[in-house]
Amino acid sequence: MSQSNNQNAARSSDPLNADQSSAARWLDPVFLRPHFEGKSILVAVTGGIAAYKACTIVSRLAQADAQVTVAMTPSATNFVTPTTFQALSGNPVYTSSWDHIESSDPQHIALADRCDAAIVAPCTMNTLANIVQGRTDDVVSLILSAINRKNTPVLLALAMNDTMWNQPSTGRNVAQAQDDGFTLVGPGEGWQACRHSGTGRMSEPESCIRAIAEALGAC
Ligand SMILES: Cc1cc2nc3c(=O)[nH]c(=O)nc-3n(C[C@H](O)[C@H](O)[C@H](O)COP(=O)(O)O)c2cc1C
Repeated sequence: MSQSNNQNAARSSDPLNADQSSAARWLDPVFLRPHFEGKSILVAVTGGIAAYKACTIVSRLAQADAQVTVAMTPSATNFVTPTTFQALSGNPVYTSSWDHIESSDPQHIALADRCDAAIVAPCTMNTLANIVQGRTDDVVSLILSAINRKNTPVLLALAMNDTMWNQPSTGRNVAQAQDDGFTLVGPGEGWQACRHSGTGRMSEPESCIRAIAEALGAC
């Protein structure tokens, strides 16, 4: 066996690499299509540095023939532009509660009614607090308020600095969100954009996509 064949054999029996390749399947549109084809998925983006990871989530879901709608808080638009998400999703992006108003069909109700699953990615400390308090003063929290979680899963991909994550208020809000039927995704541990290392990193796009597929399958 040549040296490179030896290395390939070693890699394929390495459990870490096996885990990585099974995680990577959740970015492969061919693998994703049976889970997502024809599904209507809301990706709600809030104002965290991890907003760039939402681009991959939207792109891969769109490539898997899901109908992807993106809603953004005003803060989120400081990190990634609506134009980027419009191009990736192929659909209009919602950044305000007051756009696209149709009197017979308020946009937030129509968007909530038609989605099969929703994910807030990243979900900031602020949006987590808004959601558990029932606030509806931006388009993301407004659409989420109109989703019936008994038949439509809503996932929160939490992302924040480790000190923010360790605040008592975050702990209370996380517990309340779980009690209220939200599905939490992450956060993970490791390097953070603020040059800290700790808990608070947003889960990787493949983990988020897998979590949506599992939540859809459980409904
Ligand atoms: C550069 C920068 C990065 C930020 N990253 C995060 C973050 O990762 N998580 C978080 O909870 N807040 C973060 N914030 C703070 C939020 O943007 C701020 O709380 C904002 O009000 C959130 O609004 P939203 O939840 O409506 O999107 C960051 C702020 C700045 C200026």
